[in-house]
Amino acid sequence: MNNHIEITQPDDWHVHFREGDMLEMVTNFSSRINKRCVAMPNTQIPITDSNKASIYKEQIIKASKNDFEPLVPCYLKDNLDLDDFRIGLQKKIFFGSKLYPTNATTNSKHGVSDISKIFKYLEILEEENSPLLIHGEKVADNIDIFDREKFFIDDELNIIRSKFPLLKIVLEHVSTSYGVKYIKDNTNIAGTITPHHMLLTKKDVFFDQKINPHHFCMPVVKNETDLIELRKAACHDNSKFFLGTDSAPHHIDEKKPDMSSKPGIFSAPCSIELYAEIFDQENAINNLEIFSSINGARFYNLPINNSKIKLEKTEWIVPELSSYKDIKVKNFYSNKKINWKVVN
Ligand code: DOR
Ligand code: ZN
Repeated sequence: MNNHIEITQPDDWHVHFREGDMLEMVTNFSSRINKRCVAMPNTQIPITDSNKASIYKEQIIKASKNDFEPLVPCYLKDNLDLDDFRIGLQKKIFFGSKLYPTNATTNSKHGVSDISKIFKYLEILEEENSPLLIHGEKVADNIDIFDREKFFIDDELNIIRSKFPLLKIVLEHVSTSYGVKYIKDNTNIAGTITPHHMLLTKKDVFFDQKINPHHFCMPVVKNETDLIELRKAACHDNSKFFLGTDSAPHHIDEKKPDMSSKPGIFSAPCSIELYAEIFDQENAINNLEIFSSINGARFYNLPINNSKIKLEKTEWIVPELSSYKDIKVKNFYSNKKINWKVVN
């Protein structure tokens, strides 16, 4: 039995850093483990030009203790400056682009209302060999919240892929067995998988006509069958899947036991340990490294990190809260035991 493992230093390909004090707190956690993180651009004023991206990047680097690299995608909206977009990609100020459908999640009201309006940017991404990261949910009154991923794939992603066959796409936080199968069956597309989509089902969120706001995220967690397929995809048959926590903090006061709550689960204080726990439960601890530290870099054509981290099989309890200055955020998995811990 393995009591410890050493793995190549991971990258987290999906993190919400926010701004101000929250950004400092998140950076502290995420730069503890990772060499690189994709810093999602859905800040209160979204990152829609290269100047904003440079400032966001500098703020994160300033707050980080270790040698750490934030990668910032450009937030796609209907009217971006095309020259700034192309130059930002060429100069690597932008790490590709992120597509948020309008009103799909936190700070997505400026997102994309109609995919045909962003074809001009997708053409540039394809030409520049830059990736498109997607929040893959179609939001409409007649679409059930649990079916949003499937409708996005069928109605929008298929169109994008057929118009831009060489475009590299990442379907972020895949949440359904349908999404897993779609990624496996198609080319130039990969997926990130969060710990919470492999640990929770909808019964952990919706009950007694209320919600547990600390388990409420977008895309919402789904059924047991989806959870099983996500675990298989991450832990066993994982060449097209990699680590992306979607760690998304909200101040505890913004978490309400109903649908007015802000969606987002804050897992940064224990994310690599949770992945280790899941891989161990699946008898696949030796596959953790390829998921956490290799597949993402390969898909994005980036170097694999040189440094290593070590995890030991040691029990610890996740603290209830993360606090910093005036900020209080409830940790995912709070007060629960994890059997793996990063050691220096
Ligand atoms: O639950 C979520 N929260 N999903 C997202 O896609 C965004 C995130 C946030 O920014 O709060
Ligand atoms: Zn996210």
